Amino acid sequence: MATGRRKIAVIGAGNVGATCAFVLAQMKIADIVLLDIFEGFAKGKALDMSQNSNVLNYNGTITGTADYTDITGSDVIVVTSGFPRKPGMTREDLIGKNADIVSQVGTGIKEHAPDAIIIMVTNPLDLMTYHMQKVTGFPTNRVIGQAGVLDSARMAHFIALELNCAEEDVSPMVLGGHGDTMVPLPRYTTVGGIPITQLISEDRIEAIAARTASGGGEIVKLLERGSAFYAPGSAAAIMAEAVLNDRRRVIPASCYLTGEYGLEDVYIGVPCIIGANGVEEIFELDLSTEEMDSLQGSANFYKGQLSDILGY
Ligand code: NAI
Ligand code: 2OP
Repeated sequence: MATGRRKIAVIGAGNVGATCAFVLAQMKIADIVLLDIFEGFAKGKALDMSQNSNVLNYNGTITGTADYTDITGSDVIVVTSGFPRKPGMTREDLIGKNADIVSQVGTGIKEHAPDAIIIMVTNPLDLMTYHMQKVTGFPTNRVIGQAGVLDSARMAHFIALELNCAEEDVSPMVLGGHGDTMVPLPRYTTVGGIPITQLISEDRIEAIAARTASGGGEIVKLLERGSAFYAPGSAAAIMAEAVLNDRRRVIPASCYLTGEYGLEDVYIGVPCIIGANGVEEIFELDLSTEEMDSLQGSANFYKGQLSDILGY
């Protein structure tokens, strides 16, 4: 039944999906549908969150389901379904299993929510975002990958620790793929408008960049079962809100490139404007030779995997 209210569907009711739904509920911006292959799991989490409405005063419904007809009319769909890493695994080790899940989910979205904008979270992120665009056939601006918000937030946290300053005053920038090849950009990272290159020594910046690039793995190792979810779920919620409210946020996200940075036919993290149409614009930064080599190296790594493993 169409209600005229705005709707966000979150596919996958696991750690990242449930966290994303929980953050979105607190934003009070839309009805939320939580879909998982395990119906009771989605329904149980949705009921638990719904019982929190009286405490946190949500302004919308939270519905759990395994039925794709319930995502009909969704404005935005966040896709978190898929296996997370175990200690010792890279994100790329998840390709085969998660590609099948993305195919299944993409088919459901195409049939029941053909006008939605998709925010991908499932790993390996840049490859699964590409795969989702191919499965749905949606315009590339309507399929976006979440990684840059999270990777940048991790870098911001490590900078705030280093300088003992407020997290909110750090404006970080991390590009490239969501994996070992990611490209933290100290030259484009500022604190209160001051480039960090003026505040932190070169070797400390290198250490922060390295810890950022292995930020997900550090948490996998500590948790021993599963991977990070509070910051990832929140990052996906922030992107969904940017689309739903046409915020035109300037953030790094995995976007489809058609010649920008000398790259094409690949999804990779670049700075962009996120608004009602998804990716509204991609910004091309003036990169040094070394920075450009890193970004192109990251993209070419994923291009290789797209053809070698996924057959594109
Ligand atoms: P999880 O195991 O807690 O949840 C995954 C959920 O997906 C499970 O509830 C499972 O039942 C569901 N699922 C599996 N197949 C499905 C299908 N065909 N249809 C619908 N639901 C299905 O895993 P978690 O921690 O939530 O991570 C989810 C994914 O997000 C993983 O691939 C993980 O690597 C990725 N991730 C990506 C990040 C990013 O920055 N892009 C950050 C953190 C995680
Ligand atoms: C993370 O970066 C595993 O992609 C996940 O935490």
